[in-house]
Amino acid sequence: MHAVVLVGGFGTRLRPLTLATPKPLLPIGNLPLLERLMTSLAKGGVTNAVLSLGFKPEPFLEAFPANICAGVKLTYAVEDRPLDTAGAIGFAAREAGIHTRGETFLVANGDVLTDLDISELVEFHRSAGAQGTIHLTPVEDPSQYGVVETQADGRVLRFVEKPLPGQSNSRNVNAGTYVFEASVLDRMPGVAPLSIERATFPEMVVDKQLFGFATDDYWIDAGRPDTYVRANLDLLQREHGYLVMAVSTKAEIAKSATISQSMIADDCKVGENAQVVRSVLLNGAKVEANAVVIDSAVMGHIGSFAEVTSCLVGIDGDVRSGAVLRDAKVPDPN
Ligand code: GDD
Ligand code: MG
Repeated sequence: MHAVVLVGGFGTRLRPLTLATPKPLLPIGNLPLLERLMTSLAKGGVTNAVLSLGFKPEPFLEAFPANICAGVKLTYAVEDRPLDTAGAIGFAAREAGIHTRGETFLVANGDVLTDLDISELVEFHRSAGAQGTIHLTPVEDPSQYGVVETQADGRVLRFVEKPLPGQSNSRNVNAGTYVFEASVLDRMPGVAPLSIERATFPEMVVDKQLFGFATDDYWIDAGRPDTYVRANLDLLQREHGYLVMAVSTKAEIAKSATISQSMIADDCKVGENAQVVRSVLLNGAKVEANAVVIDSAVMGHIGSFAEVTSCLVGIDGDVRSGAVLRDAKVPDPN
């Protein structure tokens, strides 16, 4: 089966991390997010994937020089301007020949991690005779997602992207994995910007062609600061059964430093008496002596006695000694 993987967004919410590394190549544990996603696509029968990109593919080519990721053969479709989700799918699917092949295909948002069994989703899609099927997942607060109302057989009755409070009673949201018949591409010419969430899905609802398949599998969209950190910590918990620290053997950690529930990558340094709690230190991050890092993701430098909570510190980020920061982005990307 062929797949279109959407990786062309700017990763705005994860800036400044995404100024150095595109969102799908940010690590979750020791592997790029995209590689974890591809592993689950491969399990579900995907053999070929076209990466739908809004900018140059160089970082992806560097990360996967043989154009193979988790056993899946990769090709690239580069837009000359952002085509939004449905525009991107229409363009990439044509570039990859999916349109002419006429087979059922898969689409995945590039920032989602899930234990969904894709073959079950495909099976449901076929038995429903749908033109399109969306994987659905339950959440507490649907306001950051596309909320979906279905009838008992799974047919979608309503799709509302980023609903306002009270706009829908449903707690099932679009989980970012879709199965489509090739005929859906007639709705996505791929030549101009078009939103699948705001245009194509509502149109398919009217035509009674869209189904939803809800599961309670593990699911997270790692595209926000809090969920990016959480996706890393979830991995720790899921792989070890409890929350532990994972420290790379290539990291330099002072004996008196306290690391708890955190992911520490290669070439990181943590100084004497520093504390790192529920955080992710990416490749090359430096935390000086007596600094405190909580609920944060760090690529850059944290000065001594600084305290950062719920922050993103980019590769050029330098939190000066003694600074106290909360909910900040360093350097400020705006
Ligand atoms: N190629 C390309 N071009 N890709 C794009 C573009 C574009 O113009 N715009 C966005 N993307 C990609 C992003 O890189 C991402 O992988 C995917 O499309 C979804 O964009 P996000 O920016 O992550 O959207 P979201 O998280 O706010 O909402 C989407 O995902 C939710 C589930 O995680 C929507 O599909 C929601 O309905 C859904 O609930
Ligand atoms: Mg997202």
